[in-house]
Amino acid sequence: MDWGMKNRMAQLIQADGHCLFLPVDHGYFQGPTRKLEEPRKTIEPLLPYTDALFITRGVLRSSVDPDHSKPIILRVSGGTSMVGKDLANEGITTSMEEAIRLNVAAVGLSIFVGTDYEHESLLNLAKLVDEGEKYGIPVMAVTAVGKELEKRDARFLALSSRIAAELGARVVKTYWCENFEKVVTGCPAPVVMAGGPQVDTELEVFEFVHNGIQKGAIGVNLGRNIWQNDFPVAMIKAIRAIVHENATPKQAQELYDSIKSGTAVS
Ligand code: 5RP
Repeated sequence: MDWGMKNRMAQLIQADGHCLFLPVDHGYFQGPTRKLEEPRKTIEPLLPYTDALFITRGVLRSSVDPDHSKPIILRVSGGTSMVGKDLANEGITTSMEEAIRLNVAAVGLSIFVGTDYEHESLLNLAKLVDEGEKYGIPVMAVTAVGKELEKRDARFLALSSRIAAELGARVVKTYWCENFEKVVTGCPAPVVMAGGPQVDTELEVFEFVHNGIQKGAIGVNLGRNIWQNDFPVAMIKAIRAIVHENATPKQAQELYDSIKSGTAVS
């Protein structure tokens, strides 16, 4: 691995081998989604506790100060919306030249295995990897499920994750699921977990994050379950404790509760 690629990977994956990425890219197809209507207000309080931001160039330029930033994973696929014909019909929206101009640590793109646009999205990934490798920029592949959340099972996610790694993704973002070890074991690239739509309780989030890390995920790329929570800073600190300090779900819940009620010792 060349110096630039190694350096960027080290910016993303911390010395303990784990990472907490904060995705705030949802607007690229969802518009001003709940609690991300004004991205700067969502991002700023959470920034100190993230290892990297997953973000589009538009929100990066408008809502993140270049002098106090964190490593950036630039979302470079899109071209569809929640109300359009097919969310899977994405193209590459941002050039590698632009990614370099923005001094990013990585670029990220979705693949849509099992859809009418499987072929195009996989060739988009392969093309992006070719470009990224040329300039030492890692590619994070996102194993998208579109609106079909029920697709989040081990068989489908293992298939998508393996294909992403085979095509050269340096990091694969997928979902936690039952039998998650099958996804990780079959994927020769590091795996991070997304959360999907907000779940009912904080404890559910702490439990799947903890379980996924035990089963080999290197960390999370977790958005709505953090910033749609009523206490997002408490939430991100609690998840950070699981990812980086090996906290149990119970300890994470206690940390969350104590920050929420203002009793935590900093
Ligand atoms: C949107 C994405 C998000 O980055 C990803 O889904 C993670 O966010 P969340 O935890 O809210 O699901 O790829 O397409």
